[in-house]
Amino acid sequence: MQGVTLTQHIRQSQLTHPEARGELSSLLTQIGVAGKVISSKVNMAGLVKMLGSTGRVNVQGEVVQKLDEYAEETIQNIVGGSGQVCALLSEELKHVIEIPEDRAGGYIVAYDPLDGSSNIDANVSIGTIFSIFPKKSSGVEVTRRDTMRPGREQIAAGYILYGSSTVFVYTVGDGVHGFTLDPSVGEYVLSHEDIRLPSKCKTLSINQGNAPYWPRWVHDFVERMLARNDEDKRRVSGRHIGSLVADFHRNLLYGGIFLYPADQRAPRGKLRLLYEASPLAFIIENAGGAASDGHQRILDMEPTELHHRTGLLIGNEAEVQLAEQCVRDAEAAA
Ligand code: AHG
Ligand code: MN
Ligand code: MN
Repeated sequence: MQGVTLTQHIRQSQLTHPEARGELSSLLTQIGVAGKVISSKVNMAGLVKMLGSTGRVNVQGEVVQKLDEYAEETIQNIVGGSGQVCALLSEELKHVIEIPEDRAGGYIVAYDPLDGSSNIDANVSIGTIFSIFPKKSSGVEVTRRDTMRPGREQIAAGYILYGSSTVFVYTVGDGVHGFTLDPSVGEYVLSHEDIRLPSKCKTLSINQGNAPYWPRWVHDFVERMLARNDEDKRRVSGRHIGSLVADFHRNLLYGGIFLYPADQRAPRGKLRLLYEASPLAFIIENAGGAASDGHQRILDMEPTELHHRTGLLIGNEAEVQLAEQCVRDAEAAA
């Protein structure tokens, strides 16, 4: 194995923060370890009876897959036991988990243990998304001021994508870096240094099946994007996996916009602010892109509850602005 490992890179990135005492490095490393454990189970899923559902429905009314449950337990054990966190916020849980004082540290981690669960049984890419905040309130108690945070207060965010290979992507606010897991030695190795979103928006990612429920502006936006294609050249291509994290990763590398707007079926949007939209918004802004709910920057949104939902438009800045313009135009015409 050759190259810079994730642990080396994280430590290096913390050298520019003189106040850092190694806690964030240790936390990110432990999240990476949880990712390796989940990755190995994902790869073996068909062999070790980990496909299919648990038969349970989670707090959001969605069917819990066996791998959702496994990923949740793994993160609770490894990240919750890292000594660096005082609270965990998960898609799969009804309430915030507070870590007992003797094992608590100074960070709050919000996460989607497994994103794209409907794709698991078809061997399609899925991933883990995470967001890290420093504790805000003084004292040992974890309060709403610590957990209901706008994304701009994140100090780190990232995801682990279980795809054709396993990739760990993270930012601590100064660039986005990607690492590929070398399964032969169990290490993440730097493979995508300082990822910048390509300037051209080549990809349009949206669930077309929701078209009957879209508000007017979504139709207008899609039409304007497709009008870029003419007889001579296809400039925009449609790509939609149905795992947010995988759609996001592809668009981050190739240039594109992903939309899951609020619509008639999901009037507040389907995706969740704290552990889906916010971390990916922090990453996209660090790579030169933008994220909005149609009216405002995702990173400025204040969650009112753990599973706060939002519309999400994320990708190249010019196209996110065009989508916001379509929202304003439709509102003005109404
Ligand atoms: P999760 O698997 O964590 O519940 O999230 C699924 C999300 C996201 O990954 C994806 O973009 C979206 O739901 C797909 O929803 P639709 O099937 O409604 O398009
Ligand atoms: Mn998800
Ligand atoms: Mn999930």
